[in-house]
Amino acid sequence: SKPLRLGIAGLGTVGAGVVQILRKQAALLETRTGRPLVITAVSARSKEKDRGVNLSSYAWENDPVALAKREDVDVFVELMGGEDGPAKDATDAALALGKDVITANKAMLAMHGQALAEAAEAKGSVIKYEAAVAGGIPVIKALGEGLAGNQITRVMGVMNGSCNYILTRMEDAGLPYADVFAEADGLGYLEADPQLDVGGIDAAHKLAILSSLAFGTQVNFAGIELEGIERVSIEDIRAAADMGYKIKLLGVAQVTGRGLEQRMQPCLVPDTSPLGQLSGGTNMIVLEGDAVGQIVLRGAGAGAGPTASAVLSDICDIARGYRGPTFGQPATTLTAAVPATSQRP
Ligand code: NDP
Ligand code: HSE
Repeated sequence: SKPLRLGIAGLGTVGAGVVQILRKQAALLETRTGRPLVITAVSARSKEKDRGVNLSSYAWENDPVALAKREDVDVFVELMGGEDGPAKDATDAALALGKDVITANKAMLAMHGQALAEAAEAKGSVIKYEAAVAGGIPVIKALGEGLAGNQITRVMGVMNGSCNYILTRMEDAGLPYADVFAEADGLGYLEADPQLDVGGIDAAHKLAILSSLAFGTQVNFAGIELEGIERVSIEDIRAAADMGYKIKLLGVAQVTGRGLEQRMQPCLVPDTSPLGQLSGGTNMIVLEGDAVGQIVLRGAGAGAGPTASAVLSDICDIARGYRGPTFGQPATTLTAAVPATSQRP
């Protein structure tokens, strides 16, 4: 049957991972979706860079907007990153032409998710983003589809692996924040702008997306009470341990009598709890629904394989003709009526 033609913009960690799976698992993916999944064109800044994958059979575009507009591209896969700039321009271009878009770009969604989802709806297409939150953990599907029969009561979790690595390492090695930060940076664990990680911003982007999906509200990054991990000292960690707690950068979203409460802050969690036991660069998302009770999802929140795995989930959905809901419901019905609250109870 008719191939699904993909245009991939961004061939870094995630993009190269996606190309690798599409090449390696072509037969399996065709069996599963009932049609060939074909990359027609790709884009990145440097055509010469060795990315560990063979790109010779794909058309090359220097300009991601041109890639998004190509007639031989049915689905535009945005894996460049950045809140604005080429990622946003190319996504806008694809949506304006009625193409489906897949993105891993939580920064762009946290800032422009509402407008992008409405632009997609206006043309009968969809923007899908399984990879944008918690990498390989299928939390978007779990929340938006698996728990569709529930009123979600709370979403919480550890959503930034780099911060969890730093906090765990401080704890295990008894090292101060500055030393562990330098170590993590040296190992390449931090974003190019490390403030996105340690300032809690990356995790807050993810929480804003999850809140919208969980509570049917517009994505509201500005409504998050945000504090990163830079001020967590080794003394704090020791004092917490003495009381039987760990310190985690924890995101929590819930609707209270006072509105939608969204927090991303260092928190004490009991060291015997699943969150307290979470070590290294792993993510954990805890979902609570009125019918299902509590569900805990744990896994790799970053890296080529896990993140590409999530992108493939979106690609397969579109190939099967299943577009799924946007932010849990049509974007045009998302309410801004739930006021954001940032005061502590
Ligand atoms: P990388 O920095 O590894 O790759 C970015 C890619 O985009 C590169 O191939 C780069 O080209 C290309 N690019 C950047 N600017 C342009 C431009 N103007 N025109 C064309 N191509 C451009 O990023 P990642 O793969 O790590 O991340 C991609 C997205 O996935 C981001 O939104 C990120 O937040 C998200 N994400 C990443 C995860 C991870 O584990 N890395 C986990 C979850 C989400 P070139 O290679 O030539 O420089
Ligand atoms: N810097 C992010 C993290 C990458 O550490 O979780 C994945 O979003």
